[in-house]
Amino acid sequence: MEQSVRVITIDGPAASGKGTVAERIAHELGFHYLDSGALYRLATYRALKLGTPLDDAEALERVASSMAPVFEQGRILLDGEDVTLRIRTEEVSRATSRVAAVPGVRKALFDLQRRAAKAPGLVADGRDMGTVVFPEADLKIFLTASARVRAERRALQLEARGETADREALTRDLEERDRRDRERAEAPLKPAPDAKLLDTSSLGIEEVVKKLLDWWDEAR
Ligand code: C5P
Repeated sequence: MEQSVRVITIDGPAASGKGTVAERIAHELGFHYLDSGALYRLATYRALKLGTPLDDAEALERVASSMAPVFEQGRILLDGEDVTLRIRTEEVSRATSRVAAVPGVRKALFDLQRRAAKAPGLVADGRDMGTVVFPEADLKIFLTASARVRAERRALQLEARGETADREALTRDLEERDRRDRERAEAPLKPAPDAKLLDTSSLGIEEVVKKLLDWWDEAR
C-alpha cells in the first residue's frame, strides 16, 4: 500500500450501522469505500449456487479465490448475474458467517481487500478490518448496539425493500451470527486494542457520522 493512503476501519457486529456510516464518511472525505462483508457474501452466494457443501473447506476456498465480481455504479455482478440484492437475504447472511470462518476463504479474499486501499484514502467496514486486514490504519472504530436495536434496524431495511420482517427471528439470527463471528479461531470479531468504541444504540446516523468525523479530525 502507498504510504500516502489514509485508512479508516469501521468494525462491529451485524446491523450495527457500519455500512451506512462507512459509506457516509467515505463520501464526506472523498475516500474509497470497502464493504468487506459483501465479498464474504459473494463467495457464499456463489458456493450456494454451485451446490458446494458448506463443510468442504477446500472447495469453499476454490470458490472464493476464483470469483471475479464486478462493482459498477452501486451494482454487483457475479458470473454475469446482478446479485446486488440476492447477497443480502437472511439465508445468505446465515450461511456467510459459516463460510467466513474458513481460514482458506479469508486468505483468498485478503489481497482483494488490501488492493482497495487507494489514494487519497479508504474507509473499510467489516469484522477484522482494524485487527487483521489494515492493522496500520490511521483511525480504527468499533461500533456496537444492543441486539434489539440492531434487529429493529435490519427489520426496517427489509421492510423498505418490500419484504416482511419477523423481529424475534431476526434477533435470534443476529445473535447466532455474532456468536459465530466472535468465537471463530481465525480473525474473530473483536475491537483492535487501539480502536475507539462507540455504542450507537441511542444515536442516529447523523450523530454517529459527526462523532467519527470529529475523531478523524483529532487523528490527523
Ligand atoms: O457486514 P456483513 O453483515 O455484510 O457481513 C456478513 C458476514 O460476513 C458476517 O456475519 C461475517 O461472518 C462475515 N464477515 C467477516 N469479515 C469481514 C466482513 C464480514 O467474517 N471483514
